[in-house]
Amino acid sequence: MASVPSLAATVNQRVSDALSAALPEAAAVDPLLRRSDRADFQANGMLALAKKLKGNPRELAAQVVAQLPAGEVIKDIEVSGPGFLNITVTDEAILSTLAARAADDRLGVPYAEEPGRTVIDYSQPNVAKEMHVGHLRSTVIGDAIVRILEHRGETVIRRHHIGDWGTQFGMLIQYLIEHPHELDHESDTANGEGEAAVLYGGAAAVSYGGAAAMARLNRLYKASRAVFDSDEEFKTRARNRVVRLQAGDQETLDIWHKIVDESKIYFQAVYHQLDVEIRDEDVVGESAYNDDLPQVVKELEESGVAVRSDGALCVFFDDVKGPDGSPTPLIVQKSNGGFGYAATDLAAIRDRVSALHADTLLYVVDARQALHFKMVFETARRAGWLPEGRPDAARQLAFGTVLGKDGKPFKTREGETVRLVDLLDEAVDRAATVVREKAQDLTEEEIAERAAQVGIGAVKYADLSTSMSRDYIFDLDRMVSLNGDTSVYLQYAYARIQSIIRKAGDRKPVAHPELELAPAERALALHLDEFAETLAGVAESYEPHKLAAYLYGLASHYTTFYEHCPVLKADGEAAVENRLFLCDLTARTLHQGMALLGIRTPERL
Ligand code: ARG
Repeated sequence: MASVPSLAATVNQRVSDALSAALPEAAAVDPLLRRSDRADFQANGMLALAKKLKGNPRELAAQVVAQLPAGEVIKDIEVSGPGFLNITVTDEAILSTLAARAADDRLGVPYAEEPGRTVIDYSQPNVAKEMHVGHLRSTVIGDAIVRILEHRGETVIRRHHIGDWGTQFGMLIQYLIEHPHELDHESDTANGEGEAAVLYGGAAAVSYGGAAAMARLNRLYKASRAVFDSDEEFKTRARNRVVRLQAGDQETLDIWHKIVDESKIYFQAVYHQLDVEIRDEDVVGESAYNDDLPQVVKELEESGVAVRSDGALCVFFDDVKGPDGSPTPLIVQKSNGGFGYAATDLAAIRDRVSALHADTLLYVVDARQALHFKMVFETARRAGWLPEGRPDAARQLAFGTVLGKDGKPFKTREGETVRLVDLLDEAVDRAATVVREKAQDLTEEEIAERAAQVGIGAVKYADLSTSMSRDYIFDLDRMVSLNGDTSVYLQYAYARIQSIIRKAGDRKPVAHPELELAPAERALALHLDEFAETLAGVAESYEPHKLAAYLYGLASHYTTFYEHCPVLKADGEAAVENRLFLCDLTARTLHQGMALLGIRTPERL
């Protein structure tokens, strides 16, 4: 179905038409229609326009009113204050607009007019290392943005730029060559946990496999580090090993692959628990750009974008200086010939623009890397690697830090980084308590399934509902609370509606535009009307927290409606059907909105 204009869009169009009829020179002026507490809508556009035309805003507003007699859509329109328009719409218009939306699978949400091609760089953990809360943010935010953009018809290419290259691999590989059994699986099943996992199968087996893989990698890391720090000759062998790795030596690469694959088992277990889908073909780590690096250097050097300074290849910026006032360059190649993080990111930009034909490049990365991206993007721009005519095509979606309850970056008591898996396990445990308390007719298996959906949803929602550039405190008590701005609150609203719809039996949701709406029904209905515009705004500004805020508003309006308007005991069949209709559209909107945030809405809780 073609998209269904919202009532707000229809009213906006009418006011705009009235404005140009009253004043031909005002054609195409936006009346700036907003939802309002005084009436349904308020239009403020007359103020700026009158100022521009040196006229009287109240007079101008009165002329517009004269063009808009009350009718099917507009019930009442009046001039207020210095020249606003207060507009009340008819209940009939509200219900018929929502009915048209409800008849559409997409709930009337249009596709973008000119969808583009976006490459999004997110969820980029590091090989042979644990994932931490920073990776949580990048994964959850990136996943939501992918869903939101794809829903609009944008072509989205995902890139997980994992840290799979660099000097530390020399140590790990060399140690593994000298101790070939270090990563063997036999050595770690002695405690019998493996058998338990096999018995449970499914999720338990995945998470057991992931934990075991990470345990083996940690063991390898510790053992090789110990030798590296104490044995000078090993250190030399490890350094030579890096050179062989970069030169593409087969034996070295084979062992490197083993380490990367082991890490991927662990990553996938975490993604499984997080309920996000990361496809292997989208995991294109730093190593993938290795062969392009000499060409990157050549082009930057020949074009003069980068210059040699003390043997290193550097790019300088007027506005990037160290504390002593001397310029801080972006180092593309070190004086020993080695390449670092910047070179790989530059090669990735070339690839994403010239081979993948991206017109927008997004990077969901910690705000603490802002300077790195500023320099990398500016370098790419100077080199002419960004899409033509779009110097701002590359953009970091920088996120803030996850803090502990003490307001400092989240650490364990011992001062170590908190393991993401421990946090997720705890969230699911807490959720199980909440679900169990409320559960009336759920089996143990159902409780476990709901606990995962509620616990993981809670963690994702807490992250997505704060503006991404802000820091937030990781507080599980608050996250799984049934009251307040939490995913559990939204999930309960959804489940409660499903329960009403089940109880309704043969009575079906049907809109009855001839009915008069109660205040709580109108408020809910007018909020439902805002869904498509909210989504469009969220997609354009890459701000999932605005979708979360919209959904929270929807659940709150629904709660008020539920308290004031009996559904199945409403007066008369038409009123029952009409309220069921509002319930059903609310549920579908909640479900769709939550799905775009990557959060499940169980049918029963
Ligand atoms: N692996 C890095 C980290 O864990 C993040 C990579 C971000 N993406 C990029 N293209 N540099 O901090």
